[in-house]
Amino acid sequence: MSTADPRPRLLLVGGGTGLVGRAVVREFGADYQIRSLHRSASPAESQAGVDWWPADIATYTEWDRALADVDVVLNVAWYRWGKSKLFAGLHAGLERMLDAARRSNIRRFLHISVPDAPAELEDTLPYLTYKRQFDRALGESGLSYAILRPTMLFGPGDRLLSVMLRLMHRYPVFPMFGSGHYHVSPIAVPDLARALHLAAARDARGTQDLGGPQRYEYRVLTDRMFQALHKRPRYWSFSDRGSVRLARLVQSLGSSLLYAYEVDWLLSDRLGLPPYEQLDRPLARVESFLDQEAENLRGGRPRVDITRFASY
Ligand SMILES: NC(=O)c1ccc[n+]([C@@H]2O[C@H](COP(=O)([O-])OP(=O)(O)OC[C@H]3O[C@@H](n4cnc5c(N)ncnc54)[C@H](OP(=O)(O)O)[C@@H]3O)[C@@H](O)[C@H]2O)c1
Repeated sequence: MSTADPRPRLLLVGGGTGLVGRAVVREFGADYQIRSLHRSASPAESQAGVDWWPADIATYTEWDRALADVDVVLNVAWYRWGKSKLFAGLHAGLERMLDAARRSNIRRFLHISVPDAPAELEDTLPYLTYKRQFDRALGESGLSYAILRPTMLFGPGDRLLSVMLRLMHRYPVFPMFGSGHYHVSPIAVPDLARALHLAAARDARGTQDLGGPQRYEYRVLTDRMFQALHKRPRYWSFSDRGSVRLARLVQSLGSSLLYAYEVDWLLSDRLGLPPYEQLDRPLARVESFLDQEAENLRGGRPRVDITRFASY
């Protein structure tokens, strides 16, 4: 990228290859130069003109250099699952980055976190305890910051609704966790990226929760997913405890399909967040995404090429 490029520079910590990172590259690409710092090379990033700096945040030591000439930092890095040590390493690296950010001239620091979870998970799950530590450190850093806490995200290549749809397509029954009367309000990944883009231009400090346009009973949404597949809903019902046990079993077999903490969180009825109202366009509804994904599955078409920052 030429030094004469007048666009401000975004440091994308965690890079543009994950679910949120891909949407961020698409959303910010026109009016930011993007420096992306993460571990694995991505042809899609280089095609999009992103400047990739190979780095593992847990061990990276050159934060002053990475932050030079940066206007906005945006952190998307986190793991979905892992031992405490894994989260501790990533968290320590992020704290080193935060120290360097305080010495730098950055204008804005954006970070993605997650909504409230049941107290036991908040207190014991490394995924959450280290995330909350970093959220607090950022809040106390003195930097101009925004923490966005989206609920369940949907978009090409997501690991929840797309995966559920594939399972419903493939198998005759789908597990129903507990009563199914708890709520979810999925939000589209491009809408989260848009909210981040708008937050980058603002000065307000604080934390915001983001829900999608519609709050569904979980079971109403799964019924709608069956409908998208032109199938009659058929469930294999589990009690709350049985659901968590099932997830634990799947997890113990080494699968990343579902984690027990995700089922606990779902059952706790904390994921039906109200709609995010500060976007400059209507929030995307989940139905059109489900219908398109279902049509691809029914037509036997290959899944959307997620490496191309696809929209829908
Ligand atoms: N997905 C959801 O439904 C959801 C909902 C609410 C909040 N969130 C939050 O949104 C954020 C992004 O989630 P996501 O679903 O986009 O995650 P993702 O698809 O797993 O992407 C995370 C990215 O972080 C990078 N990364 C991980 N560990 C790293 C390390 N040690 N060093 C450098 N880079 C590292 C990975 O790139 P490399 O492998 O190339 O390093 C990966 O592309 C996370 O904070 C997550 O908790 C997600």
